[in-house]
Amino acid sequence: MSRITVENVTRRYGDVRAVDGVSLDVAHGDFLVLLGPSGCGKSTLLRMIAGLVPPNDGRVLVDGRDVTETPARDRDLAMVFQSYALYPHLTVARNIGFPLRTRRQRKVEISARVAEVADVLDLGKLLDRRPRELSGGQRQRVALGRALVRDPGAFLMDEPLSNLDAQLRTATRTEITELHHRLGRTFVYVTHDQVEAMTMATSVAVLNRGRLEQVGTPTEVYDTPASAFVAGFLGSPPMNLLDAEVVARDGRLHAVAAGVDVPLDLGEPGNQGEPANQGEPVRRPAVLGVRPEHLSLRPAASDGAAPEATLRGTVRTIENLGSEEIAHCRVGTAEVAVRARRPAGFTVGEGVVLTVRPEHTHLFDRESGRRLVWRPDRDASVPAARVAVAT
Ligand SMILES: Nc1ncnc2c1ncn2[C@@H]1O[C@H](COP(=O)(O)OP(=O)(O)O)[C@@H](O)[C@H]1O
Ligand SMILES: [Mg+2]
Repeated sequence: MSRITVENVTRRYGDVRAVDGVSLDVAHGDFLVLLGPSGCGKSTLLRMIAGLVPPNDGRVLVDGRDVTETPARDRDLAMVFQSYALYPHLTVARNIGFPLRTRRQRKVEISARVAEVADVLDLGKLLDRRPRELSGGQRQRVALGRALVRDPGAFLMDEPLSNLDAQLRTATRTEITELHHRLGRTFVYVTHDQVEAMTMATSVAVLNRGRLEQVGTPTEVYDTPASAFVAGFLGSPPMNLLDAEVVARDGRLHAVAAGVDVPLDLGEPGNQGEPANQGEPVRRPAVLGVRPEHLSLRPAASDGAAPEATLRGTVRTIENLGSEEIAHCRVGTAEVAVRARRPAGFTVGEGVVLTVRPEHTHLFDRESGRRLVWRPDRDASVPAARVAVAT
């Protein structure tokens, strides 16, 4: 049983802060995904948890016990690497049993345990093969088996699916999720793939340049991103982010960007629900975010009754994804992606109107990138903030 706590850990390589003051608490049985772009410090953080890299600062605790100085083999954690790290000259059975042999367990016990694990991972028929005689997916399962065989308190996985082709990756994703349910153990899983994070995690920790941007359930980080970075990293296509300004007009605050005008009550994070209009600067540089699925498209010609529709632009490209279409529109100087049902019925070069409901817009501080908390005006004299796009 393992709860993993990371307290303010930092790891430097020369001038690079690979991990910069990160704190995390992974409850027993959680599936925590460390998510972020290449080079953001995911592997370094995981390796510090594993005991493979010592932190320069901070502590790592397992079940409340400080293990910062404890060698990797004594931490009761099993690591699965991207490269699988199998022994090429050993059979599948011996690869899986390897951690038990180094602990000098009895041969019969080892074979029994290897058979058990092989059964769980459907490797029973492959036990006599060597790694080079296996497919990528099978090798990956052997690497998992070697982690499982010790029955550790927690599993640490560093991009374990990245060497698999797309189809196998989806299938193995499901297998690992099922394994997590079945074992009820703590998983810490590194990936740069936001789909893996959304589908597998019970909680997601988003890292950017060694720093923690946000921790939350997949729903929280997707629906309420704490920063423009998180908003722009999750989703495919990701959230549209437009430079905007918060301006005071008619005694209330509005977010104005590229023809969108969203009335709002603005407060700092933590002040949710407080109408914090007083004392706010009259103009505040911000970033307005809208997810592609929260925009709807209409032909510009149908937009006679839209005095607030001010922006002109065009459909640039349309991607047919089979189940839906993504229309990429030029809105002022910005590109805006819109997710639409098929057939969307628009052609490249056509003028369109985009609409979004105020409660589906997100606002971030331009300088810090942090989310600005505000309450949309729900009592609907203006039901939707509108952007008109016309040629
Ligand atoms: N052993 C190392 N020596 C020098 N720099 C390293 C080492 N390991 C990682 N780094 C640097 O630390 C940063 C984070 O790396 P890493 O943790 O591997 O990121 P990620 O796994 O998110 O791609 C990168 O800038 C990387 O170049
Ligand atoms: Mg890595």
